[in-house]
Amino acid sequence: MATRKKAAKAKSKASAKKSTKKVVKLRAKKTAAKSASRIAAPRPSAKPWGEAGRALDGVRILDFTHVQSGPTCTQLLAYMGADVIKVERPGIGDITRGQLRDVKGADSLYFTMLNGSKRSITIDSKHPKGKDVLDRLVKQCDVLVENFAPGALDRMGLTWEHIHKLNPRMIVASVKGFGPGPYEDCKVYENVAQCAGGAASTTGFREGPPLVTGAQIGDSGTGLHLALGIVAALYQRSRTGRGQKVLCAMQDGVLNLARVKLRDQQRLKHGPLTEYSQYGEGVPFGAATPRAGNDSGGGQPGWILKCKGWESDPDAYIYFITQAPVWGAICDLIGKPEWKTDPDFATPPARLPRLKHIFATIEQWTMARTKFEVMETCNKYDIPVGPILSMKELAEERSLRETGTVVEVDHPTRGPYLTVGNPIKLSDSPADVRRSPLLGEHTDEVLRDVLRYSDKEIADIKASGALSAADKKAEAA
Ligand code: COA
Repeated sequence: MATRKKAAKAKSKASAKKSTKKVVKLRAKKTAAKSASRIAAPRPSAKPWGEAGRALDGVRILDFTHVQSGPTCTQLLAYMGADVIKVERPGIGDITRGQLRDVKGADSLYFTMLNGSKRSITIDSKHPKGKDVLDRLVKQCDVLVENFAPGALDRMGLTWEHIHKLNPRMIVASVKGFGPGPYEDCKVYENVAQCAGGAASTTGFREGPPLVTGAQIGDSGTGLHLALGIVAALYQRSRTGRGQKVLCAMQDGVLNLARVKLRDQQRLKHGPLTEYSQYGEGVPFGAATPRAGNDSGGGQPGWILKCKGWESDPDAYIYFITQAPVWGAICDLIGKPEWKTDPDFATPPARLPRLKHIFATIEQWTMARTKFEVMETCNKYDIPVGPILSMKELAEERSLRETGTVVEVDHPTRGPYLTVGNPIKLSDSPADVRRSPLLGEHTDEVLRDVLRYSDKEIADIKASGALSAADKKAEAA
């Protein structure tokens, strides 16, 4: 009996060993598969930093964008080295070329500041020959970016199915006003998105109407989101070999940027929002996140305070944050050392109902100094403050020029102009900030060098009227 038991034990031990071996083998197989699915990493470049090309070298973009949201996205990708070929309507181009014009006969700053570092080709996308050229472009590009009204791309014949058939590696990236749902067919501009995305209902003063902000969070904000989606899709494509659709709805983009307000919406269920000055003023909260004036969106109370010269200078103000760890330093600075120990002021919860009085007191101190003096003094004590900088001050700020955030470029018809360079600094991929192209400036170059049409073919395409408004008119006459 004992021998039989021993034999059974030995058998089960052996089978356990076998199954452990199996698991280990399986795991090893899985790990191998996983690392094989990782992109084969090249050896680290021996070239000096910044001289190993740009991050998106080799990526070619069919840029079908217009106005602001899409162009913001493709301009960023161009700054990072992508070859961005902007397709524009013959004779007209991107509508913004002529909008808010400041120099007669020259492309507007609206256009030039959103379309730097790109090439421009004119194609009538509804002309049969134009469609052929576009198909050829689809085959030669990695990403198609567009922000037409819903359905416009399909109406040109550039459906996902058509594009994917021509080029299975193509990534098709779109900005739309809304995602799928009741508003998906709506046309949307910046302020529509700010309102529909929750930003406007939470911006402004409680007693006043909703406000939109000057920062283009609907257009440029969504363009930024789209750029991230494109780069992620390019990365995934290097494993899967196929493209995909990338969609950014402006409403979603704005809501993403306003997420702290959705946070506050949920906090309301559990009581008043104590960091809002409305709490200190004893005004009851309603059902939705209210407008909070200049209250800070985080846990450290803040407000905008007048500085010396505010009577005549609309920007002589500073944002002042009463961060808890430096409360003692603030009290000393503003001549209220007794607040450090006064139970009404010594702790953050005690201060919350008294914020209006506290900021009015601090303001007496800031009003005696310029915003730059306040900044200099406060920074010595690690007190976070932000001077209200005007666009004039930013345009003249030396450090922004030095970092390439503000760049001066020359333009053949308007002369030198300032643009915003790449706000994302890559240490091995210096930004490539060049002037915006003239309408159709690179048409021949792209047809010849990218699409490999012969001279005869180029002449035929031109004669067909597919590339120029003037030719079209001649043909029609
Ligand atoms: N050749 C021929 N036709 C062209 C063309 C070309 N190269 N490029 C564009 N077009 C046509 C399109 O096919 C479309 O025609 P269709 O409506 O007959 O199909 C038309 O020009 C442009 O379409 P649309 O996008 O509707 O322009 P719009 O000026 O009426 O609307 C927006 C502008 C911004 C409201 C709209 O494009 C939109 O809602 N876009 C999505 C959201 C967005 O990005 N908004 C922010 C803009 S900053």
